[in-house]
Amino acid sequence: MQLRRTLLLLVASMSVASLGVAGCTSQTQTTAQTPQTETEVQTPQQSPQRQPDVVYVPTPQEVVDEMLALAKVKKNDVIYDLGSGDGRIPITAAQRFGTRGIGIDINPERIQEANENAKKAGVTDRVKFLQQDLFKSDISEATVVTLYLLPSLNVKLRPELFRQLKPGTRIVSHDFDMGDWKPERVVKTQEGSTIYYWTIPKQVPANLRS
Ligand SMILES: C[S@@+](CC[C@H](N)C(=O)[O-])C[C@H]1O[C@@H](n2cnc3c(N)ncnc32)[C@H](O)[C@@H]1O
Repeated sequence: MQLRRTLLLLVASMSVASLGVAGCTSQTQTTAQTPQTETEVQTPQQSPQRQPDVVYVPTPQEVVDEMLALAKVKKNDVIYDLGSGDGRIPITAAQRFGTRGIGIDINPERIQEANENAKKAGVTDRVKFLQQDLFKSDISEATVVTLYLLPSLNVKLRPELFRQLKPGTRIVSHDFDMGDWKPERVVKTQEGSTIYYWTIPKQVPANLRS
């Protein structure tokens, strides 16, 4: 929906770091701060490795369903959600299709929440959540990648997608495109979201290599 998209873009433009926000929602307050000294080492459950690049705003369930449908997710896929929030995308794929999924999020609160949700959904044998920086993660086994980040982050991620993913890997992004990498499909949902769809080409066009 337009409001959610605007919220993400607005918060991004205000600089996540200066707000001291780490994965905020309307319900979640964060206490995370970067340790000031080497002796202030915190456990992964207390603090993100660094501030998230984008705040937490969940994709509505109907849009999750449409993203999975657009990517034609099946049991034999391996789905990676980069910036996985409460885990709803891989959890839904595991519940509906038995798909194996990995969620990556930099914020330990989100990882904890996602693990709890996976347990409630009974899919802990199919999904795994990793507290990592998505820009440094090994995503090479993915056959489907889902994104709900920001336009600038999608473009920053693009070379890594081309470097790591096999030709034919499907990518779906909620609300944000990939700059001059034109999508193969664009779907408008009933409640006003846009979903973009690409597949990794056999040969990356020269203008998209960096
Ligand atoms: C807009 S939310 C999307 C959540 C989920 N994918 C969904 O669609 O419901 C973006 C998520 O990315 C995470 N994030 C931000 N920067 C990250 C980074 N560098 N590495 C991993 N996760 C990050 C945030 O903590 C947040 O949970």
